[in-house]
Amino acid sequence: MGLSGTGLVAYTTFSYMTLSRNAEIVQPLPEDFDPVQRYDAQARTFDSEVKWQEYFWGISTLRRRMTSEASGHVLESAAGTGRNAGYFEERNCKSITFMDPSGPMLEVARKKWEDSHRFSKEEKRVPVRWLEESTTGEVPMPEGQPVGYDVVIQTMGLCSTEDPVEMLKSLGRLGRPGGRILLLDHGRFHYDTMNKALDGSATDHAKKYGCWWNRDIEAIVRESGLEVVEQRRHALGTMYEFELKPFSREDRQKMEATEAKSLRATTSSPPKPKETKSAYSWWWRS
Ligand SMILES: C[S@@+](CC[C@H](N)C(=O)[O-])C[C@H]1O[C@@H](n2cnc3c(N)ncnc32)[C@H](O)[C@@H]1O
Repeated sequence: MGLSGTGLVAYTTFSYMTLSRNAEIVQPLPEDFDPVQRYDAQARTFDSEVKWQEYFWGISTLRRRMTSEASGHVLESAAGTGRNAGYFEERNCKSITFMDPSGPMLEVARKKWEDSHRFSKEEKRVPVRWLEESTTGEVPMPEGQPVGYDVVIQTMGLCSTEDPVEMLKSLGRLGRPGGRILLLDHGRFHYDTMNKALDGSATDHAKKYGCWWNRDIEAIVRESGLEVVEQRRHALGTMYEFELKPFSREDRQKMEATEAKSLRATTSSPPKPKETKSAYSWWWRS
């Protein structure tokens, strides 16, 4: 009810604000563009910028519902400023690892965690780790459980990396076989007219915020090869909620075999013959 009511108002506001930008000439992103630098720069203001939008779309409710399901050894990837931090049920967790490649974003998250999880000296605290690392980087497994994390959470992370499929595949390996991946992300609308508006301003938006807001999240999930347990869409289709299964043991063995095969192929292929310059100029050859 809350989501559809606010969604209707948002639909009108969004259409008014962005449809007119559709015809803009969009500049390509610079080759060395790094979205993480954008997050480093906006770490202090990030929460105040997204707070009202999230309230408007009912996103806090979705965050609370998803995060409170985390149990066992938990990994939150692309944790950002810790907007989910207050919703973890510590008593259900054996450990929590927060990870993000942006140090300044993680710093804000750490403060939020400490403020929202204050305990008396007698109460048991769950071990918490902070890793300044990208999802595709070197991520240690939980202590005493080398097969992977019981629950991997990620919210609004697929929009912020150049290769979202690779990011999802990494989550699929970080979760233990039989565990859970809980995902909340934003992307394309249900409606083409609104998607045109998103497409028209996507590059400018990415340049400013490090976030591609026009992604087809369902297609990204399909391409990752991860099995879908449950999926829902909210807020005119822009908010995607997924429960996925981490890769099974067999999937991992197959992937390792394929990787080893392609590595062998690249290392054993004969060196390319040196390109010899033609005596004729290019127009003569054609
Ligand atoms: C839009 S913020 C979302 C933060 C938080 N999860 C939330 O729901 O508010 C995206 C985050 O993804 C992080 N990020 C960007 N590239 C990443 C990567 N390759 N691996 C993990 N996190 C990444 C950014 O540093 C940023 O903190």
